[in-house]
Amino acid sequence: MRTSTILTALAAASSAAYAKVIVVTVGTNLTSNGSDFSAAAVFVPNVIRASLGDQVLFNFTQGTHSVIQSTFDQPCVPISQTNTSVNGFNTGPRPAGNFESITTFPVDIDLNVINQTLWFFDQSTCGNGGVGAINVNNSSWQPYNAFVRNAVRLFGPHANDTKTQTSSSTASSGSETDSSDPAEETDGTGAALRTSVGSTIAVLAAAALAVLL
Ligand SMILES: *[C@@H]1O[C@H](CO)[C@@H](O)[C@H](O)[C@H]1NC(C)=O
Ligand SMILES: *[C@@H]1O[C@H](CO)[C@@H](O)[C@H](O)[C@H]1NC(C)=O
Ligand SMILES: *[C@@H]1O[C@H](CO)[C@@H](O)[C@H](O)[C@H]1NC(C)=O
Ligand SMILES: *[C@@H]1O[C@H](CO)[C@@H](O)[C@H](O)[C@H]1NC(C)=O
Ligand SMILES: *[C@@H]1O[C@H](CO)[C@@H](O)[C@H](O)[C@H]1NC(C)=O
Ligand SMILES: *[C@@H]1O[C@H](CO)[C@@H](O)[C@H](O)[C@H]1NC(C)=O
Ligand SMILES: *[C@@H]1O[C@H](CO)[C@@H](O)[C@H](O)[C@H]1NC(C)=O
Ligand SMILES: *[C@@H]1O[C@H](CO)[C@@H](O)[C@H](O)[C@H]1NC(C)=O
Repeated sequence: MRTSTILTALAAASSAAYAKVIVVTVGTNLTSNGSDFSAAAVFVPNVIRASLGDQVLFNFTQGTHSVIQSTFDQPCVPISQTNTSVNGFNTGPRPAGNFESITTFPVDIDLNVINQTLWFFDQSTCGNGGVGAINVNNSSWQPYNAFVRNAVRLFGPHANDTKTQTSSSTASSGSETDSSDPAEETDGTGAALRTSVGSTIAVLAAAALAVLL
């Protein structure tokens, strides 16, 4: 009993010694346009490496953004909608003004999530590349740049081009499709899934537009 208490205390102490808080700044000036606007800068950094016991702390500083967990296949759809057994993190829109209402949101890297990639997006900029990921496995068929391409292809300015095509041609046509994208080759269910969630995407797109306005 006493030994296990001591061991537990030691384990806590050693993990505390190595645990770190990784701050991700959330904010960009969405009212500017042209070269000022960069959805890729909504999350800084947008590719995060975290160890067991670390905390990723999202710091909402500017504009109205959100941090919502999603999946590699559906970057701009909350994971709870694509996999009902996962109740991922979802901050909802957080208005920060211009550094006036700063809030933070923690994501703890615990045993439940340590061996997986946590994909996430910002509702208002996802289709322009407002996405990020924790613990990407670059050796797998799900590299970060393919995740960004999925977001832009399914939710971006040309998302409707592919939506109106038949499901059999969706995966192999459209200017956004990169045939070298590993996801395109290995994800056989992608086209059918995209078609079935097309109406959800349209609804979310409208919601995203409303947030932007
Ligand atoms: C964005 O750019 C367009 C076209 O250049 C311009 O008409 C508009 O006023 C700009 N909007 C803002 C908020 O700067
Ligand atoms: C955001 O961009 C607009 C248009 O370029 C500019 O007027 C405004 O000062 C910018 N705001 C911040 C906080 O940079
Ligand atoms: C969040 O950003 C604000 C503004 O840059 C900064 O003052 C604050 O220290 C940041 N919070 C954390 C936890 O880093
Ligand atoms: C849903 O999430 C659970 C838990 O992470 C996972 O085991 C399962 O494979 C997922 N299902 C699909 C269809 O991705
Ligand atoms: C995570 O993966 C490592 C290496 O494969 C393994 O040793 C460890 O037990 C895994 N942890 C969890 C919580 O699944
Ligand atoms: C994976 O790739 C991303 C973007 O290319 C890079 O930022 C990141 O450091 C890489 N991760 C590892 C573990 O090498
Ligand atoms: C990364 O992906 C490769 C290829 O699928 C796999 O062999 C490897 O175990 C993965 N690494 C981790 C840390 O999950
Ligand atoms: C895509 O279609 C939806 C629904 O018809 C529409 O609201 C949205 O503006 C379209 N997006 C683009 C980029 O044309």
